[in-house]
Amino acid sequence: MNPLLQPESYWIASTEATAYPPVEGDIAVETAVVGGGIAGLCTAWELARAGRSVAVVEAERIVTGTTGNTTAKLSAQHGAIYTHLRDAFGAASARAYADAQTDAIEHVAAVADELGIDCEFERSPSFVYTESADGVEALLEESEAAREAGLDAAFTTETGLPFPVAGAVRVDGQAQFHPRRFLLGLAADFVAQGGEIFERSRVTGLESGDGGHVLAVEGGGSVRCDEAVIATQFPVIDRIKLFARLTPRREMVLAAPIPASADPGGMYLTPEEHLRSVRTAPYGDGRRLLIVTGEAATPGDLDASLRLERLTAWASGRFETGPIAYRWAAQDYTTSDRVPFVGPLSGEDGVHVACGFGGWGMSNGVAAARIIAGDMAGEPRPWAELFGPGRFHLLKEAGRIAANQVNVVRHYIGDRVRTVPVEPGELAPGEGAVMRLDGALRAVYRDEDGGLRILSSTCTHLGCVVGFNDTEHTWECPCHGSRFSTGGAVLQGPATAPLERHPHH
Ligand SMILES: Cc1cc2nc3c(=O)[nH]c(=O)nc-3n(C[C@H](O)[C@H](O)[C@H](O)COP(=O)(O)OP(=O)(O)OC[C@H]3O[C@@H](n4cnc5c(N)ncnc54)[C@H](O)[C@@H]3O)c2cc1C
Ligand code: FES
Repeated sequence: MNPLLQPESYWIASTEATAYPPVEGDIAVETAVVGGGIAGLCTAWELARAGRSVAVVEAERIVTGTTGNTTAKLSAQHGAIYTHLRDAFGAASARAYADAQTDAIEHVAAVADELGIDCEFERSPSFVYTESADGVEALLEESEAAREAGLDAAFTTETGLPFPVAGAVRVDGQAQFHPRRFLLGLAADFVAQGGEIFERSRVTGLESGDGGHVLAVEGGGSVRCDEAVIATQFPVIDRIKLFARLTPRREMVLAAPIPASADPGGMYLTPEEHLRSVRTAPYGDGRRLLIVTGEAATPGDLDASLRLERLTAWASGRFETGPIAYRWAAQDYTTSDRVPFVGPLSGEDGVHVACGFGGWGMSNGVAAARIIAGDMAGEPRPWAELFGPGRFHLLKEAGRIAANQVNVVRHYIGDRVRTVPVEPGELAPGEGAVMRLDGALRAVYRDEDGGLRILSSTCTHLGCVVGFNDTEHTWECPCHGSRFSTGGAVLQGPATAPLERHPHH
């Protein structure tokens, strides 16, 4: 199924599985939160604490989506974002963004402490570095922008990395944690406060009327609510077409023990080499677990196995790692201006969204919960407007943007089709490729028994052409990140229908 990647992240492997019941029949609550990742669970917890009746409705198991497969740095340093924010929105907005992140990090620290959740919360400096002299100037500028935004930031050439850097921005006072330990603890407290969690309950639609909203759940149940929060990463309810402004990015993660004495003493990131992100976690016996994330790519991009090899070679070449203990992969979505979409959907009475965290949902997901809870309590957070999903006044153009996006990717994939085998006979067992058969593009996979599985290569969401991931053995859509098994079943939305099967002639 998944020959190179472990099916589970370290976070999932090191914690107990959950077993909350599915939605059965018709349920009524004040607020329904759709999606049980960090954004959904933190929002639900904030609202329950404020005295509301709240249900979390999760399609699979809570904290097994991107939040269960993250790197879990809790940092206000999001790459070199402050230069961008200052230039795009002005200094006050850059500061508001930094304040939202710092508030979120301190909130996690305070809640973990108050509830006694042992989530391996550790303070750690965060670094963005460059190994190239050409990258130094941009980082000098970023250190200034981050400082101006209120962070404890400084330019340096000194890091704890076991290799020299040309320059780095160091931000002190940041943190890292075990995301599942934190969120499973939070979920238990949420339930103790009277909150309800439903798993294996996929929401398929939302009907709004005078009496509030009704969420339809696959299998026939429903959840009636006054307010709904859509925290499904890619928004499953999206009447204002936010999707056209969300770009998916898939990353690989490796984890390997290192001697505690070889811990680089910080969290590190470089955009170079298609992204390298490094942190460590407690691992017992005088060891730390080195966690390396990288090789960011569009879902469905070719050569995933080469990228995995590159990342493995980088990790073991640069650090004193033992054998790689865990490998996994996950994806996140970035908005067109790099600020998440959090808040009420314009024109919708009581429907809120939290998405587009751009690879930084640990702090942004908690910030989202604080923003939504503040909005609902009539006490908006000072940075709510910056994150507001209605901030684009040109959303009418969204349909056109989406069409363009589809066309661009169609073209792009079309070009690549010519570079891969054109005959099913050229596929070895375990290989897949998009190719032309009888004049039509098909997604063709040869299974381990030598049989061919031929599917339509047209994604059932909006018609982009899927690509094969040769490490996870999945078909992935570059447009909005839907993922399908080699049998065509949907593994991850926004697509809801399987890839159409075709018989082999
Ligand atoms: C490899 C990687 C490393 C990362 N590292 C960091 C990091 O170090 N620091 C950081 O801040 N951020 C990091 N991020 C980003 C961060 O992990 C994400 O932004 C965050 O986890 C997203 O949280 P979420 O709650 O929005 O989504 P998820 O955790 O994916 O939760 C969404 C949930 O919604 C459910 N769902 C979907 N559709 C439906 C439906 N129809 N009905 C009901 N439920 C549904 C899903 O099953 C899922 O459980 C990383 C991301 C990746 C991919
Ligand atoms: S076209 Fe949107 S995910 Fe495939």
